[in-house]
Amino acid sequence: MKMYLTLIAAALTLSACGGSEPAKPAETTPPANVSASPVASAPQAASPVASSNVPAECQIVVNSDDAMKFDTQEIAIKSSCAEVSLTLNHTGKTPKAAMGHNLVIAAAADKAAVIADGANAKLENDYLQPNDTRVIAATKMLGGGESDTITFKTDKLKNGDFEFFCTFPGHVIMTGKVKMVD
Ligand code: CO
Repeated sequence: MKMYLTLIAAALTLSACGGSEPAKPAETTPPANVSASPVASAPQAASPVASSNVPAECQIVVNSDDAMKFDTQEIAIKSSCAEVSLTLNHTGKTPKAAMGHNLVIAAAADKAAVIADGANAKLENDYLQPNDTRVIAATKMLGGGESDTITFKTDKLKNGDFEFFCTFPGHVIMTGKVKMVD
């Protein structure tokens, strides 16, 4: 009887050792995240854009910063894109309440009213009137270090002049044109 117990103990010890072995390679694999291979990194990139099934040419990234600027003054959307995935990054460090940025798209003629009503809606509503039907697309209001990705249909952008802008009070200089291009 005593011998059996010893054998069982030995077997347990062996299986414990065996079980811990596969775990070790797993712990040493994180470098895979830093993979330089475009093929390997594209599908699993941490970027929110990658989770969308929108074609690459219909994915747009705009950066904003602590200097109250977007990094582009024009968003060009290919007319073949029925849907667009748009990512806004806030690359700064300032909190949302002091240097918040969103990216809102509306007809140029509606921009001033969307911004004015957004100011009344206050920060708790991301400075955007809830369910504002003039808004064609809008990201969340972001603070430094944050990102948001939205997907929207482009059918409302076919005819007319459209602009993108930030509705944070006083950020009227953060604006540009949205164009459908061939
Ligand atoms: Co802003």
